[in-house]
Amino acid sequence: MQATKPSADAYARRALARLIQPQPTVDAVGAGLTFYQLFTEDDAALRAEAEAGLLAPAASISPKFFYDALGSRLFEAITDLPEYYPTRTEAAIFSLHAAEIALRVGRGATLIDLGAGNCEKAARLFRTLAPSRYVAIDISADFLRDTLRGLARQHPQLPMVGIGADLCAPLVLPDAVGDGRRVWFYPGSSLGNFTPEEAGAFLSRLHEASAPGDSVLIGIDLIKDAQRLEAAYDDPLGVTAAFNLNVLRNLNRLLGANFDVRDWRHVALYRAEAHRVEMHLEARRDVTVRWGKHARAFAAGERMHTENSVKYDLPSLQAMFADAGFEDLHAWTDVSGDFAVCHASVGR
Ligand code: TRP
Repeated sequence: MQATKPSADAYARRALARLIQPQPTVDAVGAGLTFYQLFTEDDAALRAEAEAGLLAPAASISPKFFYDALGSRLFEAITDLPEYYPTRTEAAIFSLHAAEIALRVGRGATLIDLGAGNCEKAARLFRTLAPSRYVAIDISADFLRDTLRGLARQHPQLPMVGIGADLCAPLVLPDAVGDGRRVWFYPGSSLGNFTPEEAGAFLSRLHEASAPGDSVLIGIDLIKDAQRLEAAYDDPLGVTAAFNLNVLRNLNRLLGANFDVRDWRHVALYRAEAHRVEMHLEARRDVTVRWGKHARAFAAGERMHTENSVKYDLPSLQAMFADAGFEDLHAWTDVSGDFAVCHASVGR
């Protein structure tokens, strides 16, 4: 992903604005919930992307194909695993430092949740941050719509906007998001699922989409010993394996492919030199996968890369936020230094 130049960005904004198909969903309770599906990608483009990954010499699958409804549920289950410390460590940081976070972030902003998932992380901050509006964006649009219906019922006083969109595409927000001061919320170490270069470009795009006084609130996992990292991404119950393997069922549906989940094994390994956990799917035997007029042969032991989870330290985070133009970085960590919550602002 490249940082988009202002002129190209303005062009893309106008072009995409024409493509926006507002589908306001009126909530049954009459709470202020509006939902937009942004058609930034059609099925043909998704199929082309999946196909290119499978046909590449070193095959790979984009992590965007993880999140169908079952994928979203399996990810929720991952966050409950004892080995998967990031979610609960991040929540502990938010509750331990709530007062200080509220002071820095400021109350009454528009809280924009990037990759909202089940919206639980943001909802836990409603009391602390007292947002004037909640905007939730996620690629798993149906899952998000259902979640927001429930959440709007619990918080009838808080206006909510749901947006089904791919965060890798240019950020185009519908007018319903309003002009209020914005806090971009990106929890769960999702920033680590980009390469460091992509993460820097993503932060730059957020900075470009911001006005003075806006800020980012980002949760990111920190470098630690390989054993704990690998356990967090390869749990003994096999929930993470199921999450990774589920991507094959999605490809079967998207491409009409004939992946047999039983032919594949989940592999998670920490590469200390790149400080990232890599997720792969490894062929258990020689397999030929077919779809349409295509076929791809995999030898036993051959791997497809599905996701990276890059880990950072505080100095490298400091540099990355500063490079993207943000100021005044503050990072809160848990006592063990496992995870960091970062806040940084756009200067006035
Ligand atoms: N953002 C999460 C992380 O990197 C995503 C994640 C957790 C994940 N477990 C996974 C992605 C397993 C792929 C496979 O921690």
